[in-house]
Amino acid sequence: MRTQLNALRFSVRNALGFRRGPPTLLQEPKTELFDYLERGAAKRAEARERELRKRYALEPLAACSTRFDYRDNVYLLDALETIIGGETFAARVPGEALRIVDVGSKNFNYAFALERFFRNRAGPRSEVALLGVELDGHVVYRDWRARCDYAEAYVRQTENPRVAYRVADFCSIEGDSFDVATLLFPFVTRHALVRWGLPTRFFEPKRLFAKAIECTPKGSLLVLSQTESERDVLLETVATLGVDVAASVPIPSRLVHYHDALTERFGTLLRVV
Ligand SMILES: C[S@@+](CC[C@H](N)C(=O)[O-])C[C@H]1O[C@@H](n2cnc3c(N)ncnc32)[C@H](O)[C@@H]1O
Repeated sequence: MRTQLNALRFSVRNALGFRRGPPTLLQEPKTELFDYLERGAAKRAEARERELRKRYALEPLAACSTRFDYRDNVYLLDALETIIGGETFAARVPGEALRIVDVGSKNFNYAFALERFFRNRAGPRSEVALLGVELDGHVVYRDWRARCDYAEAYVRQTENPRVAYRVADFCSIEGDSFDVATLLFPFVTRHALVRWGLPTRFFEPKRLFAKAIECTPKGSLLVLSQTESERDVLLETVATLGVDVAASVPIPSRLVHYHDALTERFGTLLRVV
């Protein structure tokens, strides 16, 4: 029943293709950002946030974001540093911008952190082109804005004209080639995809990873997993697809208020061979 309902709702959303333009992003104060933590832990989190804000030039984001979105971006930067350390990434085409594709971007509320992270790691030219691809971009929120409307606002906030968002099935995109593919919490179990509201025909993790590998020749895949067992499924799925595991580490963090729910998260860096 649930799966049939998902299929029906998905086809209606996509047939309507609802969008009404980017919303004005809300600003909330960034004082006592970690007030859900006890004093000592909150001080440590504040120090880490200051460090990341400076390193990745987060001022424009801090000046125009909700506390939730801002912490999510800070958390992502913290996780990326844990996985990748100080490593840099080179564009495959010398002299070109580093090209990154984010697979399954939802509303892309973390576009700012991704853009800043890779700009920081993109070598001397520090230029990045970032594309977010989302299958289900026409989900409508309570304020009658679509997922893709919000994505447009988050994309603009990066002030990088080479950041974009596309509503599409990633497995069907053609002709694009990238240096890095990021997959933040891709579905590797069928029940997670069904709970998210997608039709089961889109549960094709091997095809999704194979496509990500195919369009990042000699590049890197960065994958975040909700749990260690999801990480294990990921490693099984990609085992025969021509990648080396460069790192796979836990990414615990208390930089978001829902930190109790993410103690099992893992981050994995794969190199396409
Ligand atoms: C668990 S959500 C993660 C969203 C986002 N990366 C984040 O961390 O907030 C997985 C996302 O992948 C999208 N997705 C699933 N299959 C896809 C496909 N074939 N092409 C593009 N997006 C896909 C889903 O619609 C969903 O938004």
